[in-house]
Amino acid sequence: MTKKLFIKTHGCQMNEYDSSRMADLLGDSHGYTLTDNADEADVLLLNTCSIREKAQDKVFHQLGRWKKLKAKNPHLKIGVGGCVASQEGQAISDRAPYVDMIFGPQTLHRLPQMLDASTGQIANAAGNRIAMVDVTFPEIEKFDHLPAPKSDGVSAFVSVMEGCSKYCTFCVVPYTRGEEVSRPFDDVITEVVQLSEQGVREINFLGQNVNAYRGPRHDGGEADLAELITLAARIDGIDRIRFTTSHPVEFTDSLVDAYLDIPELVSHLHLPVQSGSDAILSAMKRGHTAAEYAEKMERIRVNRPDISFSSDFIIGFPGETEADFEATMNLIQTIGFDHSFSFVYSPRPGTPAATLEDTTPEATKKQRLAILQDRIIQQAAQISRRMVGSTQTILVSERSKRNPAELQGRTENNRPTFFEHDDDELIGKFVQVRITEAFANSLRGEVINTDLAY
Ligand code: SAH
Ligand code: F3S
Repeated sequence: MTKKLFIKTHGCQMNEYDSSRMADLLGDSHGYTLTDNADEADVLLLNTCSIREKAQDKVFHQLGRWKKLKAKNPHLKIGVGGCVASQEGQAISDRAPYVDMIFGPQTLHRLPQMLDASTGQIANAAGNRIAMVDVTFPEIEKFDHLPAPKSDGVSAFVSVMEGCSKYCTFCVVPYTRGEEVSRPFDDVITEVVQLSEQGVREINFLGQNVNAYRGPRHDGGEADLAELITLAARIDGIDRIRFTTSHPVEFTDSLVDAYLDIPELVSHLHLPVQSGSDAILSAMKRGHTAAEYAEKMERIRVNRPDISFSSDFIIGFPGETEADFEATMNLIQTIGFDHSFSFVYSPRPGTPAATLEDTTPEATKKQRLAILQDRIIQQAAQISRRMVGSTQTILVSERSKRNPAELQGRTENNRPTFFEHDDDELIGKFVQVRITEAFANSLRGEVINTDLAY
């Protein structure tokens, strides 16, 4: 009987990517297949997030539920990975002694060995197992020990760098994922070629600070993200390229120019700004002003007039005044953001901002967040309405589950788009669709051109 693996993933796309690699690893080494039912699993893995307090709180709630499963099945193995594991290490096992394996984002490739070691393990005097703990940062070793990527969809993530060296004062990432390390240029390109051979048409280059990518070349020297995009765009079959998440300071001229030179690079950019107030940006140690950010966005828009922008915002950073918040709202209007990931500031232990005095009432912060989110929803709705009547290129990904008469895919600015069509052959191909209706989170249209269906 095949053994079953259940993975629960919290947090960012980096974690999503890591989880899929854990599944590949245990599939290749131990023959595990994924299940979406925790009750029937032999191994349960929790890939955790510590970016905000709420995310962190979810860990022990989840483990509490899994403890009950383990009471029914003593052979069940429980592993905790990701950023909470990286930060807490052994402390997780002290609080939840039924956890068998604790590993960080940079040691997940050692999971098969950890699993073997924990299988042979004998309970200690207290009747508890001793957890295997490995939350070190062995540089880029991880990627050398992961199996070749597998994909069954039209788009795939390719992780190009790990960690972050920016140390924004609110952020826990440099401590949990370590400093920036870039994967060798050739390794990344090889991975993109392998994915294209499996039918992948869209690549999303991934990193916590992805435009700080400086990948060593086999002939010496380094390649930056713009070069990576340029070369990936030349690979047969790769016709759409995204990257996430980038930092405004690392947004070089060559990357701005890529929007002019490389049609495969999508007309959508997610560039976190966090705040529109210079005082707050400085206290966050972001390294730029609001005007510098806006100026960069403007240059990109000159190169790519139809581009849409999205961003991350933190509301209620210590010391944020009504005027600071107004400055953020002004920036939102100036840029015309289409989407945001926005949250109330959450103090993270060990980060510099956690010691700052914070006198803004929680209710005020929540109110500001609601105003901000409301504005962005309105702007997004306006952009969607403006798309009605336009022709959009859609990468067709699957048949709609809601309405089997329809196929679905995404526009360049990432809107799910539905259209009636009976030919499954279009899946994995690009078509042109004239948009006829706009909804809150999606679009509907009719195919006007399948000649693009290359
Ligand atoms: N590398 C990215 C961000 C990674 S973290 C960058 O350049 O900004 C993802 C997002 O989580 C951040 O952009 C920020 O908006 C949010 N975030 C990080 N730390 C936070 C905290 N302490 N409280 C609230 N939100 C936070
Ligand atoms: Fe965090 Fe700032 Fe890096 S938000 S991930 S420290 S760029």
